[in-house]
Amino acid sequence: MGRRSLRKIDPELDLSRHYFEWPQCGKPLPLERLLPGSGPLEIEVGSGKGLFLENFSARYPEHRFLGIELARKYARFAAARLVRRGRTNAVVLQGHAMEIFTEGLADAIASAVHLYFPDPWWKKRHHKRRMMNPLFLAQVARVLQPSGTFHFWTDVREYFELGLEAVAERPEFSEPTFPPEETPQHDLDYRTHFERRTRLAGLPVYRAAFTRL
Ligand SMILES: C[S@@+](CC[C@H](N)C(=O)[O-])C[C@H]1O[C@@H](n2cnc3c(N)ncnc32)[C@H](O)[C@@H]1O
Repeated sequence: MGRRSLRKIDPELDLSRHYFEWPQCGKPLPLERLLPGSGPLEIEVGSGKGLFLENFSARYPEHRFLGIELARKYARFAAARLVRRGRTNAVVLQGHAMEIFTEGLADAIASAVHLYFPDPWWKKRHHKRRMMNPLFLAQVARVLQPSGTFHFWTDVREYFELGLEAVAERPEFSEPTFPPEETPQHDLDYRTHFERRTRLAGLPVYRAAFTRL
């Protein structure tokens, strides 16, 4: 699926409380500065244009949302969306998720990790770049609290099946559950932009959730 170009960010918007870059923001991650408070921490890997962060930070105002996005222009775009909506419980961190998990995040700090429509890296020689790999899953298991949830959704059936197999190799996770498709109540009532685009195209979305044992 190709990507449309992004709308320009209003230069007047102050992103300083919603947009951070790794590792300049501090290593390990100074979470109490980025997301003060003690509400449950939910981490989204690959936030793209930030629809999940926008919707879930409103749905769960007492939770704190950390979006990690590698592409600077998407990270800034998602942060601008949060500024425009006046969210105070969600931020975007620009950087590589694997590095941020490994070097930035303490053990058992997150109540949920969300991975939606990760890049499938179609070519065989690029498969090692996929996020659903043993090293990353070990980090997800480490960072999740007991009973925390790992959500993995994709539109690529082969990647989904490989992902299920990779998680099954890790004793820290439960068997998957398969959340049902929800009926959107309005035009942006989707988990992410990729979910919206996939469903509007009439294509299937594969969804799994795993509990940290
Ligand atoms: C296919 S897009 C999906 C975006 C969003 N999750 C959605 O469903 O609309 C994958 C996103 O993951 C980001 N990404 C890829 N590798 C990453 C990494 N190692 N760390 C953080 N983000 C990454 C990409 O820049 C891209 O924005």
